[in-house]
Amino acid sequence: MIGLVLVAAGSGQRLGAGVPKALVRVAGRSMIEHCLRTVSQVDRIGQVVVVAPPGRADDLVSTGVIPEGVRVVAGGASRDASVRHGLGVLDAGTQFVLIHDAARPFAPPEVFERVLDALVAGQDAVIPVMPVTDTIKVVRDGVVHSTPVRDELVAVQTPQGFRLDILKDAHATLDVRVTDDAMLVERAGIEVHVVDGSQRSFKITTGFDMRVAESVLAQQDPVVGGSVAFDPTVQEDSMLAMVGIGTDVHAFDPGSPAWVAGLFWPGEVGLAGHSDGDVVAHACADAVLNACGLGDLGGLIGTDRAEYRGASGAEILRAVAVHARKQGFDLVNIGVQMIGNRPRIGPRRLEAQEVLGAAAGCPVHVSATTTDGLGLTGRSEGLAAMATALVTRSR
Ligand code: CTP
Ligand code: MG
Repeated sequence: MIGLVLVAAGSGQRLGAGVPKALVRVAGRSMIEHCLRTVSQVDRIGQVVVVAPPGRADDLVSTGVIPEGVRVVAGGASRDASVRHGLGVLDAGTQFVLIHDAARPFAPPEVFERVLDALVAGQDAVIPVMPVTDTIKVVRDGVVHSTPVRDELVAVQTPQGFRLDILKDAHATLDVRVTDDAMLVERAGIEVHVVDGSQRSFKITTGFDMRVAESVLAQQDPVVGGSVAFDPTVQEDSMLAMVGIGTDVHAFDPGSPAWVAGLFWPGEVGLAGHSDGDVVAHACADAVLNACGLGDLGGLIGTDRAEYRGASGAEILRAVAVHARKQGFDLVNIGVQMIGNRPRIGPRRLEAQEVLGAAAGCPVHVSATTTDGLGLTGRSEGLAAMATALVTRSR
């Protein structure tokens, strides 16, 4: 049995996106999702473990970003600790393991296959490498100490493959700071073999790398601006982006608790409805369905479905997001505006964005407006909301 550990728990300090790097979207989907799609194309991999950023595992599963059948564990303080967490949950019968960085979201399936071929042929440790094009120097205290012969140097990528028992032993006796797994088994005296990596397996570390990644996917050479065949054997995964709109209106109902934008509002008047009447969350859900061409909330969950009676708006949004992902869509973002006099969204806007964003598994931006005393919202008879959603799917 062959297992794969996707290490995705880093905070992405150098990228500085404000969210863990593996959750950052590049070319329409998160780095974790890119990697999982590639891994699903490698038939020999029987078990996949995602090492998730601390505190994010549950949301990644419940929103369908991590699909059923993929195991999830929380990461550690360092990459090697995260790898150990992942190794710890692999099935007992696992013979070989691939360790892959989520920060290399475009590593193509061929590289996974090459590493596996070498393992199955009897190697204990296999890494994908690329020739270096720069001259590399060793510098100490600001002074060049030496210049290794470039012909002997390679740049190392992931996935790195190992016999599981060997890698586990190496990790158990770890006593240095390592930057990849091969370094550990080398120190244990194990021969590490190399196979060809790919230019597409480049690592995303900085904002510049993000721009390069977007350009590569658009098949543009970021430097000379021309069109380049980055890896002629690989079919580019071209994306189709689609927007959708969603609207919802509910009348105020003084007997109901006030749930708006995924939040409970003490002291505010609630809304009538089959569910909790959360117009903001419902508009978001409808916008997602509309963008995907999957109909609308009425059609999907109806008013006759008992399981949604009294369901919170956030739960409905989550259910819709899961449904959309199962149909092959990626959610890029949602923008929603509440229309009405109360509640005052401003002071709790960020809180609302967090709750709705966690439910949808993508950024949700919330704003609010009044209608100058006009119409049902102006007369405080009820609340309305309008949302747009952007989704993508592979062609
Ligand atoms: N990683 C991890 N757990 C950590 C640190 C890193 O799982 N405690 C993972 C990252 O998610 C990434 C891979 O190891 O997929 C390579 O790490 P790196 O590119 O350095 O990512 P970050 O540590 O997130 O970035 P930075 O060093 O800029 O904070
Ligand atoms: Mg790091």
